[in-house]
Amino acid sequence: MSVTTNAAPLKIAEPWFDEVETKGVADVLASGQLIQAQRVLELERAFAEETGLAQAVMVSSGTAALHLAMLACDIGPGDAVAVPDYTFVATANAVACAGATPVFVDVAPDTYNMDPAALRSLIEWMPAQGGGFRLRMIMPVHQFGLPAEMDAIAALALEHGLVLVEDAACALGSRYRGGKIGAWGRAACFSFHPRKVITTGEGGAVVTNDVALADRLRALRAHGFAVPPHRPELVEPGLNYRMTEMQAALGLGQMAKLPAILDRRRRLASLMTRALAGLSWFAPPQAPPHLSPNWQSYVGLLAERVDRTKVIAHMASRGIETRPGATANHLLKAYRDCPPAMTPACPVSAMLDARTLALPLHPLMQPADVERVADALRAYQAE
Ligand SMILES: Cc1ncc(COP(=O)(O)O)c(C=O)c1O
Repeated sequence: MSVTTNAAPLKIAEPWFDEVETKGVADVLASGQLIQAQRVLELERAFAEETGLAQAVMVSSGTAALHLAMLACDIGPGDAVAVPDYTFVATANAVACAGATPVFVDVAPDTYNMDPAALRSLIEWMPAQGGGFRLRMIMPVHQFGLPAEMDAIAALALEHGLVLVEDAACALGSRYRGGKIGAWGRAACFSFHPRKVITTGEGGAVVTNDVALADRLRALRAHGFAVPPHRPELVEPGLNYRMTEMQAALGLGQMAKLPAILDRRRRLASLMTRALAGLSWFAPPQAPPHLSPNWQSYVGLLAERVDRTKVIAHMASRGIETRPGATANHLLKAYRDCPPAMTPACPVSAMLDARTLALPLHPLMQPADVERVADALRAYQAE
């Protein structure tokens, strides 16, 4: 469909960089020190302080963070990990790539997050299934930056002796009952992909209060060599998941902007919700009072009768990028056809997979851009 507007294209996400990041990266290039060094350390300190955890381990992506967390928690063959069905595939992939089995939990229709009642059912249902899998870990996702129901999920982890690791890829700056995200379990994993609130191009971090776990993560991200104060010997086979100094320079610039980024996102999201009020066929994202999202993405729900492909084409014809929300993992070929698909039904996730729509929301947008998005959506003839 052709673009029928002269207005600048509006992307779903765009990073906010300025001369701080430009100079930071140029300084790294001039120094010749490209791989993990002082800037990565500095970013780790800043990130630990921001999240309130004792240790932050910077890595090359959010996926690398999740994979390392699996390895460092000794998750492997024979283990099962409960993950929400409605998420980006990296969550389940990290489990599968550690040799373990992801088991999918349905989500709540209002928050799109792991449903604690469905998690309880899964925990009670799994032992009867046989198959030689033992549930060892719960990995909730704070989808689109809205915190999962952590009181209930952490209580289930405690009750059943399960390891808890948060996939906080989207949730830097979000709050649960006023508290920060990342301290509920043994570790939490963040992503700095360009669609996240801060970006290093690709990049990620694992945070934890467990110093021994952090040491192991640091060894595993650099081939398996122990880190100081331990002797620098190869303690176990590891990977190369290090963050570069260029990424860290971007990260340091982004961390300085974090309060302003979060503030802009919150204002724009609230404007968007107001501008879309009364639209019968698009339900804006919900944020119950005890959950404060960072508005990493603005994802609403289309009425069943609305053809999402046509809405996306309609918005594109006005120069506005929109996208489906996340994916129902149990419907993906790799998880549908393989033995790991030992999953109870996830009807809510399947519904969200078909009907969610992400609208542009990023800190370079102006209030007029929000109006433009809302006007374009309103102009779609849904009947
Ligand atoms: C929930 C979730 N987990 C993990 C990831 C993986 O992060 P990355 O793209 O940095 O590997 C993403 C995003 O991309 C995500 O949205």
